[in-house]
Amino acid sequence: SAGNYLAGLKLVVSAGPTREPLDPVRFISNRSSGKMGYALARAAVAAGADVTLVSGPVQLPAPAGAELVEVETALQMHDAVLKACRNADVYIGAAAVADYRAKQIAAHKLKKAETGADVIQLEKNPDIVADVAALQPKPWVVGFAAETEDLENYALGKLRSKNLDMIAANWVGRAEGGFDSERNALQVFWRDGRKALEMADKTSLAVQLLQLIAERMHEKNPI
Ligand code: PMT
Repeated sequence: SAGNYLAGLKLVVSAGPTREPLDPVRFISNRSSGKMGYALARAAVAAGADVTLVSGPVQLPAPAGAELVEVETALQMHDAVLKACRNADVYIGAAAVADYRAKQIAAHKLKKAETGADVIQLEKNPDIVADVAALQPKPWVVGFAAETEDLENYALGKLRSKNLDMIAANWVGRAEGGFDSERNALQVFWRDGRKALEMADKTSLAVQLLQLIAERMHEKNPI
């Protein structure tokens, strides 16, 4: 039925920020609230999918009917997502994953005067969505792109370099939309097409994005 457009599909969504600890009390993170990813998980459950939600630390209730896997760091999110994606049909990377983590996590609270405490050495985290797109068999992979400038070019660059099937790009750092807002707008790109989803509540935007994913998946693998 029209309401069950994801029936029979196993879908994995990531949401929220990651937290990269520096010492027992400090971390590097970002402004993601998890609202976009949780809205996608709820809408996917309502559309009949078998949903696993891998979430960083957020202040949101667990979506009814989804399997919730709670993580903190990018490395933990990487493990949980890759494991959940082994037999998944669709992965949607809505999480704001920290690109870097501290090279060393101090065992004690860093002191102001401590040698080296004024220099935090970082190393690169793995790219979760790119690693999902390299799985065999490969799920249908949808990335997000959070941009403050040149949105289309950066989004198309990420679509290609990460080998994604689709990318949903949003402006961030503006008055409306993006991080921690109730509303958002998405410029969605795939290899040979695009669609603009106008500013709307993240709940209704999630339904529109999932319907677009269902449409494009069937285009690629006609039934
Ligand atoms: O959580 P909300 O407050 O509701 O805000 C929603 C949002 C702005 C966080 C969301 O709409 C969004 O844009 N999520 C992606 C944020 C992001 O980190 O984008 P990016 O352009 O840096 O990353 C591109 C893609 O690569 C994303 O799918 C990201 O999940 C993925 N990525 C990035 C780095 C990494 N190490 N692993 C990844 O998988």
